[in-house]
Amino acid sequence: MNERTLPQHIAIILDGNGRWATSRGLPRTKGHEAGSHKVRLAVRACHERKIPVVTLYAFSAANWNRPGEEVGNLMRICREFAEEAHDDLVSRGVRVVVVGDIDDEVPTATRKATERLIENTEGGTSMTLALALNYGGRRDMVSAMRAVAAQARAGLLLPEDIDAQTIRRFLSTSALPDADLVIRTGGEQRLSDFLPFEAAFAELFFTDTLWPDFSEATLDEALAFYARRQRRFGRTDEQVRRTAEI
Ligand code: IPE
Ligand code: IPE
Ligand code: MG
Repeated sequence: MNERTLPQHIAIILDGNGRWATSRGLPRTKGHEAGSHKVRLAVRACHERKIPVVTLYAFSAANWNRPGEEVGNLMRICREFAEEAHDDLVSRGVRVVVVGDIDDEVPTATRKATERLIENTEGGTSMTLALALNYGGRRDMVSAMRAVAAQARAGLLLPEDIDAQTIRRFLSTSALPDADLVIRTGGEQRLSDFLPFEAAFAELFFTDTLWPDFSEATLDEALAFYARRQRRFGRTDEQVRRTAEI
């Protein structure tokens, strides 16, 4: 695979932990714990395949609506992930960033462990791992709009000068390229408020595999699917072929 057929940014909606656990007669938390191990496997596999940017949907802004006990366990698992994956990510040269709000709602211990991971991987150049933690696409767009409006009110920005690039600058994903490929495990075919702006032209790969059953084979299936797609960005097939020949 070359630059054209290898996605530069993969965004993963890791879904199906709860059903994986329930089908085994286990509490949902066991599914999240098994899922967390697969996050580490997925990061390693993407790193080995030289994917430059990977975004993982770890906890959505809507997930606060889950029972308090499950939310607490998810936050603990996020903290443990940040602690346990720390050394491996540092040695692999993976730069970790967060998209979403880890400021107020996220428990202090989870926030601190995540911030430490971000700080200690700052110099990483081999891959960027974006953790979508307390992330909601609409919410991110709302805060970007507020920032744009504040600039306009302060006279720093004229309404007629606002374009997609202006809005992008204020999104929590501003440092990342657009998503090329969105993978969702767990059988649902929806985006659940994930990267509505950034995945506007992404290819979408849905699989029934539940996240704790995710393997390198699932990733390779998604990559093969992506390599077969012709991305047109509004152009015709003929135009795309002609550009590809140059
Ligand atoms: C995804 O698995 C993990 C998070 C949302 C944090 P789910 O917990 O949504 O699993 P299902 O969809 O209930 O099986
Ligand atoms: C999406 O999964 C959020 C994450 C993977 C973190 P959900 O399981 O929360 O999504 P819905 O509720 O099925 O849309
Ligand atoms: Mg789910």
